[in-house]
Amino acid sequence: MRVLVTGGAGYVGSHACKALSQAGHEPVAADNLSQGRRSAVKWGPLEVGDVTDPAFLDAIFASHKPDAVMHFAALSLVGDSVARPAQYYRANVAGGIELLDAMRRAGIGVIVFSSSAAVYGVPDTSPILEDSPKAPINAYGATKLSLEMALKDYEKAYGLQWAALRYFNAAGADPDGEIGELHDPETHAIPLAVKAAMGQGGVFRLFGEDYPTEDGTCIRDYVHVTDLGDAHVKALEHLARGGESGAFNLGTSAGASVREIIAAVGAAAGRSVPVEAAPRRAGDPPILIASTARARTILGWTPVMSDMATIARTACAWHAKHAVP
Ligand code: UFG
Repeated sequence: MRVLVTGGAGYVGSHACKALSQAGHEPVAADNLSQGRRSAVKWGPLEVGDVTDPAFLDAIFASHKPDAVMHFAALSLVGDSVARPAQYYRANVAGGIELLDAMRRAGIGVIVFSSSAAVYGVPDTSPILEDSPKAPINAYGATKLSLEMALKDYEKAYGLQWAALRYFNAAGADPDGEIGELHDPETHAIPLAVKAAMGQGGVFRLFGEDYPTEDGTCIRDYVHVTDLGDAHVKALEHLARGGESGAFNLGTSAGASVREIIAAVGAAAGRSVPVEAAPRRAGDPPILIASTARARTILGWTPVMSDMATIARTACAWHAKHAVP
């Protein structure tokens, strides 16, 4: 299949392009390069433009004639979304609707959407099932949930086939070192720990050591970005076979604490991570772990690189080569 990949120059989108290409599909990346990087587009053409622009969308659908869409293009910083919700609703919700309508005009009926565990907010059960209550606590999660709701309504009205993939904590880098995580600003725990170990990012600030977990630090379900890329291809192929539309959690069903990731990064870097205790970060639930049974049984997806040692090793290798001090 030829697949239009919005946000194809970004962190997860570029790994999906590689996974598509390795599976024999043809990715066409579309990206406004606000976060993405031209250098991350290696497995097909890049069209530079914005998903909020219907003329841009119509032009790329007409010239590339894709069979399906993977939609990653979005603003994705949780804290930023609380301060600037207008930009998040415009990019993530209005942009998503423009994309769905351009797909309808072009007669394309299959989409794999990059959603997030942020749709659940602060869950009262663990692990989190796809049917657990959706109660986002920030505008980022609300925008992802809004577009999921639109997908369902477009299915009912127009027959759209869709999969919403709710990532827990995307982490790691391409094992061949071709692409990796380069956010600016960087807010995520693993790349910040890697930079601190390499002497590039000052001291790692550990947000809270008094949570009700074994070592007192927050537990998250980290999933390797290469496994995420594979899940997108499996979701696409599931829909192409006429499989049922729906939402899927992507994680490992296991968790790691912040202390455990600091230890894994220290071991992978060969240098310990300098750490200083800091107050809790607002909005951080103590534990977020996915139930991944649905993706495993329906999509036939199994994460194979998501152990913490592999995540830390690939993240360190990428940052050693590419990170700007
Ligand atoms: N942390 C630190 N110090 C840091 C950065 C993070 O201690 O400098 C801690 C956080 O408090 C948290 C853990 O490390 O306990 C992971 O934090 P990240 O910022 O890496 O990831 P989050 O779990 O906050 O966010 C992830 C995704 C978001 C998504 C969210 C859903 O990155 O896109 O899960 O809950 F919205």
